[in-house]
Amino acid sequence: MALLPILRYPDPRLFKVAEPVREVDDRIRQLVRDMAETMYDAPGVGLAATQVDVHERVIVIDVSEEGDDLRVLINPEIIWKSDDLQVYEEGCLSVPGVYDKVERAASIRVRALNENGETYEFDADGLLAVCVQHEMDHLMGKVFVEYLSPLKQNRIRTKLRKQEREAVRA
Ligand code: NI
Repeated sequence: MALLPILRYPDPRLFKVAEPVREVDDRIRQLVRDMAETMYDAPGVGLAATQVDVHERVIVIDVSEEGDDLRVLINPEIIWKSDDLQVYEEGCLSVPGVYDKVERAASIRVRALNENGETYEFDADGLLAVCVQHEMDHLMGKVFVEYLSPLKQNRIRTKLRKQEREAVRA
C-alpha cells in the first residue's frame, strides 16, 4: 500500500484523457488499493486515476458516512441519465479549498468493471450521482472548475498558484 501524490489544478496532466483498462490484472488491483488508501487518507469521497497521474479509466468512490462502502469503477460508462438536474456544491482533492455549485444529471445508471474484472451496474442519485459524474469528468481531462465562469476560473488558478509558491517557500 502506498499514498500517491495528488496532482493539483491547473497541472496540465489533469487535462489528459485516460485510456481504457485493457486487462484488470494485479497491476490494476494494486493501483486500486493505493488509490483507495490515498482517497481515505485525504480524506475525500472519490478519486480518479488521472489525479494521481495514471491515465487509465479507474475510479474509486466511497460516499458513506463510515467510509466502509468502497466502489471500484474500471472503464465506467453512464448508460442512462435523467433529464432532471440537481445542483450540488462540489469540491475536489485536486482543487483544495475551493467549493462551488455545479449542475449535473440528478440520477444515472452506471456500468463498470470491478477489481475482479466483472461487469456490474448500479443506479445512483444524490451525492453518489454527483461523485460518479465528477470523477468520470476527470478521466476525460475535465476538472469541475471548468463549469464555472471564466472569471472564477481565473481567480481559482491565481489562488492555487499562490498557495503553491508559498508551499515551496515554507
Ligand atoms: Ni475531483
